[in-house]
Amino acid sequence: MSATTAFARALRSINPLSALAQRLLLSRAKHRSLTGHPRIALRLARLLPEYGYSAEEALGIDGAPAAIRETRAAGLARLETTLRDRAPKTLAASRALAAGMSDMQMVARCRVPFQFRDSLAARLGVGSIVESADGVQLRDLDGNLAYDLGGSYGVNLFGNDVYRRCIEAAVEEARDLGLVLGAYHPVVADNVARLCALSGMDEVSFHMSGTEAVMQAVRLARYQTGRTHVVRFAGAYHGWWDGVQPGPGNPLTVDRVYTLEEMSATTLKLLRTRDDIACVLVNPLQALNPNAPPAVDSTLVAGARTAHFDKARYTQWLRDLRAVCDARGIALIFDEVFLGFRLAKGGAQEFFGVGADMVTYGKTLGGGLPVGVVCGQRRWMRRFREDRPADLCFARGTFSAHPYVMCAMHAMLEYLETPAAQATWMDLEARWHARATHLNDALASAGVPVRVANMTSVFTTNFTEPGRFHWLLQYYLRAEGLSLAWVGTGRFIFSHDYSDADVAEVIRRFVCAARAMDADGWFWRDPAASDAAIRSQVGREMLRAVFARRPAAEPVPAPRPEAPAPAPVTR
Ligand SMILES: Cc1ncc(COP(=O)(O)O)c(C=O)c1O
Repeated sequence: MSATTAFARALRSINPLSALAQRLLLSRAKHRSLTGHPRIALRLARLLPEYGYSAEEALGIDGAPAAIRETRAAGLARLETTLRDRAPKTLAASRALAAGMSDMQMVARCRVPFQFRDSLAARLGVGSIVESADGVQLRDLDGNLAYDLGGSYGVNLFGNDVYRRCIEAAVEEARDLGLVLGAYHPVVADNVARLCALSGMDEVSFHMSGTEAVMQAVRLARYQTGRTHVVRFAGAYHGWWDGVQPGPGNPLTVDRVYTLEEMSATTLKLLRTRDDIACVLVNPLQALNPNAPPAVDSTLVAGARTAHFDKARYTQWLRDLRAVCDARGIALIFDEVFLGFRLAKGGAQEFFGVGADMVTYGKTLGGGLPVGVVCGQRRWMRRFREDRPADLCFARGTFSAHPYVMCAMHAMLEYLETPAAQATWMDLEARWHARATHLNDALASAGVPVRVANMTSVFTTNFTEPGRFHWLLQYYLRAEGLSLAWVGTGRFIFSHDYSDADVAEVIRRFVCAARAMDADGWFWRDPAASDAAIRSQVGREMLRAVFARRPAAEPVPAPRPEAPAPAPVTR
């Protein structure tokens, strides 16, 4: 800790007014949503008991008249049959696998707002097993092909064939060394040189996942600054390490992390005035929807999603962060594990024209094999002090720099230099924006309240009207042969080998799905039902559940005069 920092802390401890002012500033720098208050969100998550709507309640939970409820019931039955009959083997194998696989069970619980899980969603089968990939399509056990919009969590940037080739080249190149760890395969030197050139940094460290890369970058920032706290922004995902994941999902209450509002002048003020901040972590994917939680369909409680990527504003935000971090000696870390080389060969640093002190990479960089990488300036990366022989910043990892991973990475790094890779970055923004615009035009012509927003080849679904059933769109999309990640409509991750014809077919299917959902009555809404009204209805329901510890659906509002009377609600 520097003498100035220690002095400032000492001064604060004897000046309660200054401590109070700092506390107030910290409160003001939090995003006002629950996402901005992870500790409170965690407490509430622990309090909330399981409750759900019966099938009958669910169909009319928004006060829809009987005719609409009947249309919905018939539509649901059709959707159930379509999904079940087209993939019997895949569904049976997925169910059998889930019984012994914790990950699948957790994901299955998180697909939709929980109140609908056991009534409506339980009827809609989702297969999780695919046996081959053919271009941009995946084939399930029943031989069905579906366009891959899941993008292997973002790993699949250049198309499956590129990763196949990287892995095959790695097996070939690493064969002679086999499994030797500790000593390095000769390609590692070239990987380091290429990574330094791409990132504009001096040093590199290899890890086994993106989560680990983030852990290491944060540890280095703390070591070099002697400060304790990490700043992350509301809603940003940085892997599942406790230290950057406060709030629901992590059983621990996490200290030494400030979750602040992104793109906020108050946050900049706080960074200017606090002396305990070691680093600021930025996940540039948040530019698509700053301060919003990861776009999982289970959060579509009222249906509002209003993502919008404003490059100029986000660039200015990053510049402001750069300036304040420079002034305060804080490490600015770009977590590019997800976006990596999707935005540009030089990643987010090049795309936004703002440099970081350390950058974390992972996913696509491994050429299809698991990896995490930190690239940083020497002053941040150094894990020892010349003048303190026992004061180290320890980091290892049995499988780090694994020869097969290094060789697959090498193949990927070579691929980044090819004309084929260059072509995917050429007119990148214009190309993907035009594709998103085509989709939006087609959705608008279809008269459905669905749109997309995009940040290059990453899309998210927005809904232009509130509603209780928007989460159902994921199933209609699947029925049309579009394969989604478990998060559903919140993230479509296109690989860059999607041709115009592939995209046109995706658009056609997407619009068919949205039309079918509309025809089945799920977008019906009472004009009085605003987003806020729905949220407060659900909020009241939850409160009742907490206090009564029993099923707690709101009574269905009285039907509008022209509508037939709704069926009685059972509990
Ligand atoms: C921005 C970001 N950081 C870190 C991680 C964690 O990477 P991994 O899943 O390889 O641990 C992810 C994963 O999605 C990510 O998107």
